[in-house]
Amino acid sequence: MIFHKISCCCKLTLSIVNNGKKLMPQKIIVFGNQKGGTGKSTLAMHLVVSLLHQGYKVATVDVDARQGTLTRYIENRAKTSQNNSNVLMPTHYPVFDSSSDSIKVMNRENFLMFSELINSLNGFDFIVIDTPGSDTSLSKIAHSFADVIITPMNESFIDLDLIIKATPVQRSGSVKTSSYAEIVWEQKKTRALRDHSSIDWIILLNRTSSIESRNKKELERILTLLSKRLGFRFIKGFKERIIFKELFLSGLTLLDSNSSQKLNLSHIAARQELKELLKALNIY
Ligand SMILES: Nc1ncnc2c1ncn2[C@@H]1O[C@H](COP(=O)(O)OP(=O)(O)O)[C@@H](O)[C@H]1O
Ligand SMILES: [Mg+2]
Repeated sequence: MIFHKISCCCKLTLSIVNNGKKLMPQKIIVFGNQKGGTGKSTLAMHLVVSLLHQGYKVATVDVDARQGTLTRYIENRAKTSQNNSNVLMPTHYPVFDSSSDSIKVMNRENFLMFSELINSLNGFDFIVIDTPGSDTSLSKIAHSFADVIITPMNESFIDLDLIIKATPVQRSGSVKTSSYAEIVWEQKKTRALRDHSSIDWIILLNRTSSIESRNKKELERILTLLSKRLGFRFIKGFKERIIFKELFLSGLTLLDSNSSQKLNLSHIAARQELKELLKALNIY
């Protein structure tokens, strides 16, 4: 068996339940972008904690287990939760790529392992999957199981170029896809063939500056234009905020009220940004 379950992360404390919790079929949410450092793991963790606070049963899967940021975040959180029962925990599964030298065997083993894992998680309301900033066999398979793919990107045309070729031609309307958009497209087809379901693709800006620059406006304009052509939804996302960097060691998020940080206006605004993401997912 290729995946290992972290048993210390199985504490599901669902005592703080928001009565407004919406009943819905299980949703698999994949954070993906083959560029590293765009905020996939950080935002995945924040989404997970938002869902737990609403009373949902959440499983997390770290397909980027070699780097293991989400796994480390959850391990840190598990330690903090030992002294604080208000710190709600997901059930966590780090998974590793098959070590086979044959690509064919590796793909088959990865698929079997991953589908078996997903089938075993049918008691959860949400499965949140973090993927690496590279194009691995397991990452592609994880994308093909998504109901929603969330792609955070930084406020730069270099980031856009890695998703969609951002050429002057494209500014005037024609679209050239680069590899990440192609991966999503391929996995949308795989999903449709497997069970006739569709994948909702959301691209959001992360770590945006507070200043309204021309660059930012242009990026937003192009993303809005491309969203219809390439079949993604564009949402404005999250500003650059120190709080996102500070809480990793304690495993906390800006939603954990017991955070030693005092809430300031920036934190309140960040919570609002998170709410907007939940609304986009039709959860809030
Ligand atoms: N909105 C934000 N504001 C400030 N820093 C952020 C924000 N989102 C993520 N970060 C920081 O950016 C870095 C990369 O984030 P990470 O979640 O590890 O990205 P990825 O998983 O895509 O590689 C980390 O140092 C993280 O703390
Ligand atoms: Mg990561």
